[in-house]
Amino acid sequence: MAEFTLPKNSKIKGGQKHPSPQPGGTMRNFKVYRYDPDSGQNPRYDTFEVNLDECGPMVLDALIKIKSEQDPSLTFRRSCREGICGSCSMNIDGRNGLACTIAIEDVKGEIKITPLPAMDVIKDLVPDFTRFYAQYASITPWLQTVTPPPAGKERLQSPEERAKLDGLYECILCACCSTSCPSYWWNSDKFLGPAILLQAYRWLADSRDEMTGERLDALEDPFRLYRCHTIMNCANTCPKGLSPAKAIAEIKKMEVERLV
Ligand code: SF4
Ligand code: SF4
Ligand code: FES
Repeated sequence: MAEFTLPKNSKIKGGQKHPSPQPGGTMRNFKVYRYDPDSGQNPRYDTFEVNLDECGPMVLDALIKIKSEQDPSLTFRRSCREGICGSCSMNIDGRNGLACTIAIEDVKGEIKITPLPAMDVIKDLVPDFTRFYAQYASITPWLQTVTPPPAGKERLQSPEERAKLDGLYECILCACCSTSCPSYWWNSDKFLGPAILLQAYRWLADSRDEMTGERLDALEDPFRLYRCHTIMNCANTCPKGLSPAKAIAEIKKMEVERLV
């Protein structure tokens, strides 16, 4: 896997060293991207020495320890610590992933941590998801129907119809895939990117949804859908083991099939 580019606004200069407050154990250095737009200063890398004997096993444990004991101003998102909420996505040792599911022992040497690439940075490891969420809203990610539901019943699916959502519904919108996609780096203002297209296919594949034609119309565009050039970074990166590239291929197939 190729290393990804640094975040936007990343003229890296200087950096501070923070020794561990618990010397004498098994030490690892964490080199962490720091950026505070309000300071007027350029971004920098700070190096934090962490005593692994006093730390949980995951990269997120180390970040929480650093924030608690060495620098309370270090800023990052996290919530579930279980790989479910998608909020701790960042670039660790050159790969996008979830800090709560990447074990420190699986990363060799000094551990370099930056925000997700190719997004504007709000502060430190927090990227700006505004465009990503607007793109998500644009695919109307909810069930849409025109026929009334069967009297007194839910809209049912057969087990086979439900199975078509496997590999799609598990997406946690962490954006690891989209921010590893070169097409998205270059055209994120127009190309929806792998995460949002996987979500779009989740509704196209839903047997209960009755807006398939409208959904396909909205996606049929040289940029929104067709900027995917099957580079496959997205499938290699997804921490949930999903394949946005496959979902994109299915959308393209649906677009072709409705013409014949
Ligand atoms: S397969 Fe398409 S969406 Fe996935 S990384 Fe490649 S260009 Fe991007
Ligand atoms: S497809 Fe995977 S990498 Fe992409 S947003 Fe969903 S969970 Fe994250
Ligand atoms: S904290 Fe929720 S996915 Fe990492």
